[in-house]
Amino acid sequence: MRPQNGDQINQLRAAAYDRYRAARPRSEALHAQAKRFLPGGNTRSVLHFDPFPFRVESASEQTLVDIDGHAYVDFCGNYTAALLGHSPDRVKAAISEVLDHGWALGATHPREVELAELICGRFPSIDQVRFTNSGTEANLMAIGTALHHLQRQGEAADRRTIGVFDQAYHGGVLAFGSVDGPHNPLNVPHDFRVAPFADVAGFDDLFQPDLACVLVEPVQGSGGCRPPGLDFLNELRRRCDETGTILIFDEVMTSRLGPGGAQQRFDVLPDMTTLGKYLAGGMTFGAFGGKREIMASFDPDQPGALTQAGTFNNNIVSMTAAITTLRHELDADTLGELNDRGDRLRQDLQATFVDNNIPMWVTGVGSMLCVHGGDQMDDQTGGGLLELYFHAMLNQGLYLARRGFMALSKAVTDDDCARLVSATQTWIDEMPAGVFGGHAQ
Ligand SMILES: Cc1ncc(COP(=O)(O)O)c(C=O)c1O
Repeated sequence: MRPQNGDQINQLRAAAYDRYRAARPRSEALHAQAKRFLPGGNTRSVLHFDPFPFRVESASEQTLVDIDGHAYVDFCGNYTAALLGHSPDRVKAAISEVLDHGWALGATHPREVELAELICGRFPSIDQVRFTNSGTEANLMAIGTALHHLQRQGEAADRRTIGVFDQAYHGGVLAFGSVDGPHNPLNVPHDFRVAPFADVAGFDDLFQPDLACVLVEPVQGSGGCRPPGLDFLNELRRRCDETGTILIFDEVMTSRLGPGGAQQRFDVLPDMTTLGKYLAGGMTFGAFGGKREIMASFDPDQPGALTQAGTFNNNIVSMTAAITTLRHELDADTLGELNDRGDRLRQDLQATFVDNNIPMWVTGVGSMLCVHGGDQMDDQTGGGLLELYFHAMLNQGLYLARRGFMALSKAVTDDDCARLVSATQTWIDEMPAGVFGGHAQ
């Protein structure tokens, strides 16, 4: 049914688009050009929004500057990958230094060893690790490794189903909708079983004899920053142990929640872990690792060893950036401060919505946050309140992901957070009566 305030939201959205468009002629022209060569002008779907995305000219610390000269405080943080802020000095210096010695080596080098040792020393469940170029690839490799390990253990050949959770995003070919679907048509053709996230009641359906492994984010990131709840991860671990199912934590995003990742924070250890995003200081990166006996499948000295021969697996730029990040940028205090700041921002934003009786809310853990609300009106209004909120924040020089997602970087300050809270209040105050569906006071 069409919401009563739908027409009003449509008008406000059209006005927001007009204002946005008028202030960004260069981005608009480039979008038109981009559409000739890139479908819809886009090569990373999540970065598209209406009427067209601004195009960035430069980025430094917590600031993005677009080609029309607008500066934005970056709360999106490249969907967690820009944890260090933009152009972090130490990473830049380390990369510059290494480039003097060649980069497309096609040979092993000391830095991959150093990085592997750092990662194994940091994440409690990782005895051994291998590198990839992205989080997607890390998850694909982890799934394949888990299936192979079970077969090697002599498990029934039909034990090949992979358990995942509703709304989970593990990469462009591993993206899931509701329990009953539909799911991403681009997904790889494994046998998946989708269970409700953070709901132990779904485990009886999930844990059937054909289940081989479970892939889960300890806190769902793209799925709306959903925390796991009290028992979910512990019970999942217990059921996996009971049934010999391999438990894989996708910590591509959540490893930022503590020095040893979410697994350390929640004190639940998986059999395998995947990593990516921020770990290489913003450079392309992925990794999968876990128990020695599982990772041993890749040992070339073993008969029938698996091969994973990615050309750029040990690329020296990413290895160097990751070493610098782990050695010098992300100690326990720094991550603690970052995640505490995220908790405070979430509480302040949530209080702003609650105090003003606005039907919007904020979820997340630590430095991963997501604003929700109003999108149930999507069909009628093409975006509802969240779309208005997103554009209002852009207009005030504050950049969140279009879907409300935020990943704080080290460079974002308490003052930046206060600015976001105050801009939220200003937006609420300036909205005409009735926009919030009669909820606002
Ligand atoms: C939890 C999670 N896993 C995997 C991926 C895929 O990583 P990449 O984009 O590096 O392939 C993402 C990316 O957003 C992610 O959020």
